[in-house]
Amino acid sequence: MLEVDPSVLANSDDDYASSGYDTSTESLASSVQQYIYENGRRYHSYYGTEKYLMPTDETEQDRLDLYHEIYLVAWNDNLHEAPLTTPHRILDIGTGTGIWAIDMADKYPMAEVIGTDLSPIQPSWIPANCRFEVDDAMKEWTFRENFFDFIHARNLNTGVTDWAHLTSEMMRCTAPGGYVELLENSLTLHCDDGTMKPDHGADIFLRRLREALEKMGRPHPTHEFLKNQLENAGFEDVQMLTAKEPFGPWPKDPRMKRVGAMSLLNGSTGFESYGMAAFTRVLGMDAAEARGICERALQDARNKNYHVYCLYFRVYGRKPAVENRCK
Ligand SMILES: C[S@@+](CC[C@H](N)C(=O)[O-])C[C@H]1O[C@@H](n2cnc3c(N)ncnc32)[C@H](O)[C@@H]1O
Repeated sequence: MLEVDPSVLANSDDDYASSGYDTSTESLASSVQQYIYENGRRYHSYYGTEKYLMPTDETEQDRLDLYHEIYLVAWNDNLHEAPLTTPHRILDIGTGTGIWAIDMADKYPMAEVIGTDLSPIQPSWIPANCRFEVDDAMKEWTFRENFFDFIHARNLNTGVTDWAHLTSEMMRCTAPGGYVELLENSLTLHCDDGTMKPDHGADIFLRRLREALEKMGRPHPTHEFLKNQLENAGFEDVQMLTAKEPFGPWPKDPRMKRVGAMSLLNGSTGFESYGMAAFTRVLGMDAAEARGICERALQDARNKNYHVYCLYFRVYGRKPAVENRCK
């Protein structure tokens, strides 16, 4: 159980600012560069508006980079949990701004690191052993079989219409004895001390988001689901790990407190990133209703009296070595 920091509860106001926390945010071919603007945000549209429901503008890119830091703090600075030794080829599917791939290229200078994404939003100043390609992971991959020592996908679930396709392509392209790793957010809200009210805005938000994703044939992944997907594709020794992502700096544990503070900052644009297109395009809400759900989620997340958190699921497995596969 995550213990609440008593100093957070030191006065009767609901907001973190009254407890001394600053949670404000002040501070290829041309055809793949097709965008639409909707509700004040820019969305990539080359593959159509159904393919991926989140914006790809600078605000979102900043949020993804912040999320990378949140993951690192939540997971003790581990870029991966799979027991890699000397990987030579690494692939990151749905790489976003490419920040994980860039860090991996720095960590393993002898490896070639490739990141693929629907959108060309990656920087051009990158390590010499890193490169990016525009590709749709839901189509047949262009990579050779048995090519990569490690294939990674993080926070990809809102873009995955066919997990079996994704994991079978991972299986095909992983070298025997190589690893794959998935890291996803539970998209469910939890509370250990009974402080979450039944109509918590973030809980309502997540329920509506799961509803939209299910309507699009993209059920939110659970731990068991991810494990089964890897095992069904043929990976062995599949390991499951869980971490908590508190909303707000309410935990006593310093590392969790940092995660919570950064998550709140992330939520200041994140609820709208996840919610606006899902609620308007898929659930048919008008923009005001959709924005209201996002705003209420953020408002309740900012209330220090509710000690809520989401879960991260991290699952990794190994492709059998050739000898094992022949048995
Ligand atoms: C929430 S972002 C996560 C980015 C990155 N993995 C990270 O953790 O920082 C999801 C990314 O997956 C990409 N994506 C979604 N569906 C995809 C698909 N079918 N093929 C390739 N990339 C996809 C999106 O364009 C977006 O950049």
